[in-house]
Amino acid sequence: MSEPRIIVALDYSDKKQALDLVNQLDKTCCRVKVGKELFTAAGPQLVEQLMMLGFEVFLDLKFHDIPNTVAQACKVAANLGVWMVNVHASGGKKMLLAARDALPPGKTKLIAVTVLTSLDQFALNEIGWYRAPMDIATQLASLTRDCGLDGIVCSAAEAAIIRKNIPQKNFWLVTPGIRPADSAQHDQARVTTPKVAILNGADYLVIGRPITQSANPMATLQQLNHEILSAYSAIN
Ligand code: C5P
Repeated sequence: MSEPRIIVALDYSDKKQALDLVNQLDKTCCRVKVGKELFTAAGPQLVEQLMMLGFEVFLDLKFHDIPNTVAQACKVAANLGVWMVNVHASGGKKMLLAARDALPPGKTKLIAVTVLTSLDQFALNEIGWYRAPMDIATQLASLTRDCGLDGIVCSAAEAAIIRKNIPQKNFWLVTPGIRPADSAQHDQARVTTPKVAILNGADYLVIGRPITQSANPMATLQQLNHEILSAYSAIN
Protein backbone atom coordinates (compact mmCIF):
# COMPACT_ATOMS: atom_id res chain seq x y z
CA MET A 1 0.00 0.00 0.00
CA SER A 2 1.06 3.64 -0.37
CA GLU A 3 2.32 5.57 2.63
CA PRO A 4 0.25 4.65 5.71
CA ARG A 5 -1.95 7.52 6.87
CA ILE A 6 -3.29 5.91 10.04
CA ILE A 7 -1.47 6.29 13.35
CA VAL A 8 -2.83 3.70 15.78
CA ALA A 9 -3.06 5.15 19.32
CA LEU A 10 -1.64 2.53 21.72
CA ASP A 11 -3.54 3.81 24.75
CA TYR A 12 -2.64 1.03 27.18
CA SER A 13 -1.28 0.98 30.69
CA ASP A 14 1.09 -1.91 30.08
CA LYS A 15 3.54 -3.17 27.55
CA LYS A 16 1.98 -6.60 27.07
CA GLN A 17 -1.35 -5.22 25.86
CA ALA A 18 0.44 -2.88 23.46
CA LEU A 19 2.59 -5.68 22.02
CA ASP A 20 -0.39 -8.06 21.77
CA LEU A 21 -2.13 -5.46 19.61
CA VAL A 22 0.81 -4.55 17.37
CA ASN A 23 1.52 -8.24 16.78
CA GLN A 24 -1.86 -8.37 15.02
CA LEU A 25 -1.04 -5.39 12.76
CA ASP A 26 0.95 -5.15 9.53
CA LYS A 27 3.66 -2.50 9.97
CA THR A 28 3.31 -1.40 6.34
CA CYS A 29 -0.35 -0.45 6.92
CA CYS A 30 -0.03 1.95 9.86
CA ARG A 31 2.22 3.81 12.25
CA VAL A 32 1.77 3.72 16.03
CA LYS A 33 1.44 6.36 18.73
CA VAL A 34 2.86 6.04 22.24
CA GLY A 35 1.31 8.58 24.60
CA LYS A 36 1.79 9.59 28.23
CA GLU A 37 0.03 6.55 29.71
CA LEU A 38 1.99 3.85 27.90
CA PHE A 39 5.28 5.77 28.03
CA THR A 40 4.96 6.26 31.78
CA ALA A 41 4.29 2.54 32.19
CA ALA A 42 6.76 1.07 29.74
CA GLY A 43 9.28 3.81 28.86
CA PRO A 44 11.84 4.09 26.07
CA GLN A 45 12.45 0.31 26.04
CA LEU A 46 9.00 -0.29 24.63
CA VAL A 47 9.49 2.45 22.04
CA GLU A 48 12.70 0.71 20.97
CA GLN A 49 10.91 -2.63 20.84
CA LEU A 50 8.17 -1.21 18.61
CA MET A 51 10.81 0.22 16.27
CA MET A 52 12.65 -3.13 16.20
CA LEU A 53 9.37 -4.70 15.09
CA GLY A 54 9.47 -2.25 12.17
CA PHE A 55 6.85 0.28 13.32
CA GLU A 56 7.39 4.01 12.98
CA VAL A 57 6.55 5.64 16.31
CA PHE A 58 4.87 8.97 17.05
CA LEU A 59 5.95 9.83 20.61
CA ASP A 60 2.95 11.86 21.80
CA LEU A 61 4.26 13.43 25.00
CA LYS A 62 3.10 17.00 24.18
CA PHE A 63 6.11 18.74 25.76
CA HIS A 64 5.33 22.15 27.31
CA ASP A 65 8.03 23.79 29.43
CA ILE A 66 10.79 26.39 29.21
CA PRO A 67 12.61 26.38 25.85
CA ASN A 68 15.79 24.63 27.04
CA THR A 69 13.93 21.81 28.80
CA VAL A 70 11.67 21.15 25.81
CA ALA A 71 14.58 21.31 23.37
CA GLN A 72 16.58 18.76 25.37
CA ALA A 73 13.57 16.44 25.67
CA CYS A 74 13.02 16.61 21.89
CA LYS A 75 16.68 15.84 21.32
CA VAL A 76 16.49 12.72 23.50
CA ALA A 77 13.34 11.63 21.63
CA ALA A 78 15.14 12.07 18.30
CA ASN A 79 18.11 10.05 19.60
CA LEU A 80 15.66 7.25 20.39
CA GLY A 81 14.90 7.26 16.67
CA VAL A 82 11.18 8.06 16.77
CA TRP A 83 9.42 9.15 13.58
CA MET A 84 7.61 12.09 15.17
CA VAL A 85 7.43 13.99 18.46
CA ASN A 86 5.22 16.87 19.61
CA VAL A 87 5.05 19.97 21.80
CA HIS A 88 2.34 22.50 22.75
CA ALA A 89 2.31 25.51 20.40
CA SER A 90 1.16 27.63 23.37
CA GLY A 91 4.66 27.17 24.84
CA GLY A 92 5.52 30.14 22.61
CA LYS A 93 7.82 31.07 19.77
CA LYS A 94 11.12 30.70 21.66
CA MET A 95 10.15 27.23 22.82
CA LEU A 96 9.06 26.16 19.32
CA LEU A 97 12.29 27.46 17.77
CA ALA A 98 14.44 25.82 20.45
CA ALA A 99 12.66 22.48 19.91
CA ARG A 100 13.06 22.72 16.13
CA ASP A 101 16.76 23.62 16.41
CA ALA A 102 17.40 20.72 18.79
CA LEU A 103 16.34 18.14 16.18
CA PRO A 104 18.75 16.94 13.51
CA PRO A 105 17.31 18.13 10.17
CA GLY A 106 15.37 15.66 8.04
CA LYS A 107 15.08 13.00 10.73
CA THR A 108 12.45 13.16 13.49
CA LYS A 109 9.36 15.20 12.58
CA LEU A 110 8.18 17.86 15.03
CA ILE A 111 4.55 18.94 15.29
CA ALA A 112 2.64 21.14 17.76
CA VAL A 113 -0.74 20.86 19.46
CA THR A 114 -2.76 24.04 18.86
CA VAL A 115 -5.77 24.03 21.24
CA LEU A 116 -6.70 20.81 23.03
CA THR A 117 -10.08 19.74 21.69
CA SER A 118 -11.15 19.09 25.29
CA LEU A 119 -11.13 22.87 25.90
CA ASP A 120 -14.36 24.66 24.96
CA GLN A 121 -14.93 28.43 25.03
CA PHE A 122 -15.86 28.37 28.73
CA ALA A 123 -12.75 26.43 29.71
CA LEU A 124 -10.57 28.74 27.60
CA ASN A 125 -12.09 31.81 29.29
CA GLU A 126 -11.25 30.28 32.68
CA ILE A 127 -7.56 30.31 31.77
CA GLY A 128 -7.76 33.81 30.33
CA TRP A 129 -7.96 32.89 26.64
CA TYR A 130 -10.97 34.94 25.49
CA ARG A 131 -10.90 34.46 21.73
CA ALA A 132 -12.85 31.75 19.94
CA PRO A 133 -11.11 28.33 19.93
CA MET A 134 -10.96 28.33 16.11
CA ASP A 135 -9.24 31.76 16.05
CA ILE A 136 -6.69 30.64 18.64
CA ALA A 137 -6.07 27.38 16.78
CA THR A 138 -5.57 29.25 13.49
CA GLN A 139 -3.12 31.69 15.08
CA LEU A 140 -1.14 28.91 16.79
CA ALA A 141 -1.07 26.93 13.52
CA SER A 142 0.44 29.95 11.71
CA LEU A 143 2.97 30.47 14.50
CA THR A 144 3.95 26.79 14.27
CA ARG A 145 4.38 27.05 10.49
CA ASP A 146 6.40 30.30 10.84
CA CYS A 147 8.72 28.59 13.34
CA GLY A 148 9.49 25.92 10.75
CA LEU A 149 7.85 22.91 12.43
CA ASP A 150 6.46 20.07 10.33
CA GLY A 151 2.78 20.40 11.23
CA ILE A 152 0.13 20.50 13.92
CA VAL A 153 -2.37 18.34 15.76
CA CYS A 154 -5.90 19.68 15.25
CA SER A 155 -9.45 18.38 15.06
CA ALA A 156 -10.60 17.25 11.63
CA ALA A 157 -13.35 19.87 11.86
CA GLU A 158 -10.71 22.62 12.21
CA ALA A 159 -8.55 21.10 9.48
CA ALA A 160 -10.52 22.57 6.56
CA ILE A 161 -10.09 26.19 7.72
CA ILE A 162 -6.47 25.70 8.77
CA ARG A 163 -5.65 24.01 5.43
CA LYS A 164 -7.16 27.01 3.62
CA ASN A 165 -4.88 29.39 5.56
CA ILE A 166 -1.85 27.13 5.24
CA PRO A 167 -2.03 25.40 1.86
CA GLN A 168 1.57 24.08 1.92
CA LYS A 169 1.23 20.31 1.64
CA ASN A 170 4.50 19.74 3.50
CA PHE A 171 2.86 21.24 6.62
CA TRP A 172 1.05 18.22 8.06
CA LEU A 173 -2.34 18.24 9.74
CA VAL A 174 -2.62 15.33 12.15
CA THR A 175 -6.17 14.72 13.34
CA PRO A 176 -7.55 12.62 16.23
CA GLY A 177 -11.26 12.13 16.95
CA ILE A 178 -11.81 9.85 13.95
CA ARG A 179 -14.66 7.34 13.86
CA PRO A 180 -15.93 5.11 11.04
CA ALA A 181 -19.58 5.95 10.25
CA ASP A 182 -20.93 2.87 12.09
CA SER A 183 -18.64 3.03 15.14
CA ALA A 184 -19.18 4.08 18.79
CA GLN A 185 -18.22 7.68 19.68
CA HIS A 186 -16.77 6.75 23.12
CA ASP A 187 -15.78 9.96 24.96
CA GLN A 188 -15.02 11.98 21.80
CA ALA A 189 -17.41 14.93 21.60
CA ARG A 190 -16.92 15.83 17.95
CA VAL A 191 -16.04 12.97 15.64
CA THR A 192 -15.28 12.84 11.93
CA THR A 193 -15.17 9.90 9.52
CA PRO A 194 -11.82 9.07 7.87
CA LYS A 195 -13.24 10.18 4.52
CA VAL A 196 -14.31 13.63 5.77
CA ALA A 197 -10.97 14.10 7.58
CA ILE A 198 -9.07 13.48 4.32
CA LEU A 199 -11.44 15.71 2.33
CA ASN A 200 -10.86 18.44 4.96
CA GLY A 201 -7.12 18.29 4.31
CA ALA A 202 -5.84 15.99 7.07
CA ASP A 203 -2.57 14.18 6.29
CA TYR A 204 -2.47 11.64 9.14
CA LEU A 205 -5.34 10.26 11.22
CA VAL A 206 -4.85 9.23 14.85
CA ILE A 207 -7.22 6.33 15.53
CA GLY A 208 -7.38 4.41 18.80
CA ARG A 209 -10.36 2.44 20.05
CA PRO A 210 -12.06 1.67 16.72
CA ILE A 211 -8.93 -0.42 15.99
CA THR A 212 -7.66 -1.42 19.45
CA GLN A 213 -11.10 -2.60 20.63
CA SER A 214 -12.04 -4.29 17.37
CA ALA A 215 -12.55 -8.07 17.34
CA ASN A 216 -10.25 -8.08 14.30
CA PRO A 217 -7.92 -5.06 14.48
CA MET A 218 -6.14 -5.83 11.19
CA ALA A 219 -9.40 -6.15 9.27
CA THR A 220 -10.63 -2.85 10.73
CA LEU A 221 -7.33 -1.18 9.83
CA GLN A 222 -7.66 -2.44 6.25
CA GLN A 223 -11.24 -1.17 5.98
CA LEU A 224 -10.18 2.25 7.25
CA ASN A 225 -7.23 2.34 4.85
CA HIS A 226 -9.58 1.49 2.02
CA GLU A 227 -11.88 4.39 2.97
CA ILE A 228 -8.85 6.72 3.04
CA LEU A 229 -7.66 5.56 -0.39
CA SER A 230 -11.08 6.16 -1.92
CA ALA A 231 -11.20 9.64 -0.35
CA TYR A 232 -7.81 10.37 -1.95
CA SER A 233 -8.99 9.17 -5.34
CA ALA A 234 -12.01 11.50 -5.00
CA ILE A 235 -9.76 14.56 -4.60
CA ASN A 236 -6.92 13.65 -6.99
O1 C5P B 1 -9.55 5.96 20.95
P1 C5P B 1 -9.50 7.24 20.19
O2 C5P B 1 -9.55 7.06 18.68
O3 C5P B 1 -10.53 8.24 20.68
O4 C5P B 1 -8.04 7.81 20.53
C1 C5P B 1 -7.69 9.08 20.21
C2 C5P B 1 -6.27 9.35 20.57
O5 C5P B 1 -5.98 10.69 20.16
C3 C5P B 1 -5.92 9.28 22.03
O6 C5P B 1 -4.58 8.78 22.14
C4 C5P B 1 -5.98 10.70 22.51
O7 C5P B 1 -5.06 10.97 23.54
C5 C5P B 1 -5.57 11.46 21.26
N1 C5P B 1 -6.09 12.82 21.18
C6 C5P B 1 -7.45 13.13 21.16
N2 C5P B 1 -7.88 14.42 21.07
C7 C5P B 1 -7.00 15.39 21.00
C8 C5P B 1 -5.65 15.11 21.00
C9 C5P B 1 -5.23 13.78 21.10
O8 C5P B 1 -8.29 12.24 21.22
N3 C5P B 1 -7.43 16.63 20.89
